[in-house]
Amino acid sequence: MAGEADDGVVCVIGAGYVGLVTAAGLAERGREVRVVEVDPERRAAVSAGRAPIHEPGLDQVLSAVVGAGRLRAVESMGEGVAGAGIVIVAVGTPPTADGEADLTQVHAAVDAAVEHATPRAVVAIKSTVPPGTTRSLARRCRREDLAFVMFPEFLREGSALEDIRNPSRVVVGGDDPAAVGRVAALLGDPDTPRLLCDSVSAELIKYGSNAFLATKISFINEMAQLCELTGADVETVADGMGLDPRIGRSFLSAGLGWGGSCFPKDVRALETSAGYHGQSFWLLKAAIEVNSQQRRRFTAKLLHGLGGSLEGRRIAILGLAFKPFTDDMRQAPAVDVIHQLEDLGAEVVATDPVALEPARPLLPRTTLVGDPYAAVTDADAVGLVTEWPDYRDLDWGRVLGLMRGRLVVDGRNCLDGASIAGHGGAYLSVGRRPRGLPRVLPGAAGEAVAAGVPPLPLG
Ligand code: NAD
Ligand code: UGA
Repeated sequence: MAGEADDGVVCVIGAGYVGLVTAAGLAERGREVRVVEVDPERRAAVSAGRAPIHEPGLDQVLSAVVGAGRLRAVESMGEGVAGAGIVIVAVGTPPTADGEADLTQVHAAVDAAVEHATPRAVVAIKSTVPPGTTRSLARRCRREDLAFVMFPEFLREGSALEDIRNPSRVVVGGDDPAAVGRVAALLGDPDTPRLLCDSVSAELIKYGSNAFLATKISFINEMAQLCELTGADVETVADGMGLDPRIGRSFLSAGLGWGGSCFPKDVRALETSAGYHGQSFWLLKAAIEVNSQQRRRFTAKLLHGLGGSLEGRRIAILGLAFKPFTDDMRQAPAVDVIHQLEDLGAEVVATDPVALEPARPLLPRTTLVGDPYAAVTDADAVGLVTEWPDYRDLDWGRVLGLMRGRLVVDGRNCLDGASIAGHGGAYLSVGRRPRGLPRVLPGAAGEAVAAGVPPLPLG
């Protein structure tokens, strides 16, 4: 514990999607960074200058900063925090069975860090934690010479490095203005918007941002259902709504809804937290329900499209990760959808450019293959779950030639339905007109009925 806390030295606890990318970004900006990680495989990968997760560009940055001696993975908390002016806690906050944020990892990391931290160090909580947590961690630590701040992270997987290099905003919340300022100086450039506030507001800014974006997606997904029933086109509706700068076009892509390690857990945690304060956050309850309905509706489209039974049918699923450019399978819609299809008797063959290995333990009944053309061979139907460009760019004439059936259900509205229909396919998507199906009545519902695809049940 001897010596002065030096803000040029940063300790990051947790080498996951957030911790490692933050550490790499800080090392790129010239800080000396130590990453404390309990998982020996993750530590070994970082020490070798390799990323233990799939994140575009991260391998190159790690190899450079580890090679230059500016980033080091360590096992010992004492070694990690010694002399560090700022200790960033970026461990997991997974959901408990009843939807709360499980703070076990945060408590263990903070307890170990404060035991060794150098006086005047600031402990910056980057993990997403419920309102009041940062203050309660400060009380629990019983060291007056340390400050605690909430330092929420807004990076997106798949573009995480870019988000760390050029953050849309830097938010830091805490009771000690000097500590808040020291942490706020870590990231961004002079033009980056900075919001310095109390820690509870910073905690709610993080939850509020994720919950708002998730609700926006659920809203457009409800609109997509109405588009299917009325014959409107959800992409056009989203384009038109998005032209209003107060609304904006982003996060209005209808489809299979939100997955990933954060939106599902954070929306539920916020709703549960509100409940502890006596509030029923009805909007979030509805957003969650709409989101799970999207997965059931996708399964229902395959079921109805194949005549009402999936017994003995072979279905190819394109894409497993919760979104493109990541191998993250946490809360991936593909898992629910594939389980539903298999429970209905289908044989599922699935493919993904990078997520096959993380998917394997989650999908014990599924055949996983690397080559999308092998996946679609002899399939009665193809369902697209993750919008990897690889799948948009497939030779769809060849795909339809390899399939046994002709039904293509696009859960992300990313394929060219007209071209698929041109190759003889029957194309269904989300909130857009079916293609390659006979048209008798105006509107999507009429076309679907004409093709023997009854309107899908609501709810
Ligand atoms: P993760 O599970 O990928 O990484 C957490 C890491 O911490 C793991 O490698 C784990 O082994 C390590 N760890 C756990 N306890 C430890 C301890 N006591 N000492 C040292 N290492 C320890 O999680 P993640 O996706 O990086 O998320 C971390 C936090 O950031 C969560 O609260 C999450 O909600 C939040 N967040 C995540 C994202 C994202 O895109 N993944 C974005 C913003 C915020
Ligand atoms: C999200 C937020 O965008 C980040 O700001 C935040 O830091 C992060 O959560 C977090 O707290 O972990 P991420 O989970 O990486 O980032 O992914 P997003 O790009 O936000 O997508 C989330 C989910 O919503 C994906 O399943 C995606 O397919 C879905 N989505 C997104 C839609 O269905 N429609 C859209 O229009 C946009």
